Amino acid sequence: MRQKIVAGNWKMNNDLPQSISLLSSLVSKELHNEVKVMVAPAFPLLYPAKEIVKESNIEVIAQNINENKNGAFTGEVAASMLKSIGVTTVIIGHSERRAIYNETYSILAKKVEAALAQNFRVIFCVGEELDARKKNEHFSVVENQLAESLFQVSENDMKNVVIAYEPVWAIGTGETATPAEAQEMHAFIRTKISEKYNNAVAESISILYGGSVKPDNAQEIFSQPDVDGGLIGGASLNADDFTAIIKAF
Ligand code: 13P
Repeated sequence: MRQKIVAGNWKMNNDLPQSISLLSSLVSKELHNEVKVMVAPAFPLLYPAKEIVKESNIEVIAQNINENKNGAFTGEVAASMLKSIGVTTVIIGHSERRAIYNETYSILAKKVEAALAQNFRVIFCVGEELDARKKNEHFSVVENQLAESLFQVSENDMKNVVIAYEPVWAIGTGETATPAEAQEMHAFIRTKISEKYNNAVAESISILYGGSVKPDNAQEIFSQPDVDGGLIGGASLNADDFTAIIKAF
């Protein structure tokens, strides 16, 4: 049975008072027991966020790490630092990091390695831009993203990997992949994992969908057989919307 996960990626939103208010509201709600709920605040909010959710099942996760262990990398954060405050899951390869911060295949491969070396769970994001979808190149784009930055991972370490399929054209646009488009890509990703590793690994990995998931479309997307949850941006900033998405399972 694959783990169901709903993770909120807050991106560069929510200061301390806003984070306290949102998290206090979330912990007061009855969340779905069978769904692993995660929230990813910005770095300075991770520690206070953990304090607020400590009596709940909500996991506080990071949006990024640096690929190096430590050293002269001004402004960067190492996996070991996150681990020292009890954060052990990180999102790697988000399309915003790829596009705005030029995170290449090779940097992302190193980030994945750095995280797994600290026994982190990695939520590895893949997804094509609109142009690639229009040219019918979306499968090859995603295949390359997996091959170049994730498939160096050992079979054993793959148990700490979650994949998030986020078509770039659906992020923050209000446009979602149709449930059929999501299912088609998730099944493709699972096939690629099976080819690279084996069927048992492929069947055990949770694959999340991300891109304009809202309370009114979550149920249909989550009902697809290869969709094991969601990576939620905008709607995770509102406690009622995020809760409704969690309950859509
Ligand atoms: P939206 O839900 O705002 O489209 O963002 C999706 C996303 O990028 C999550 O990582």
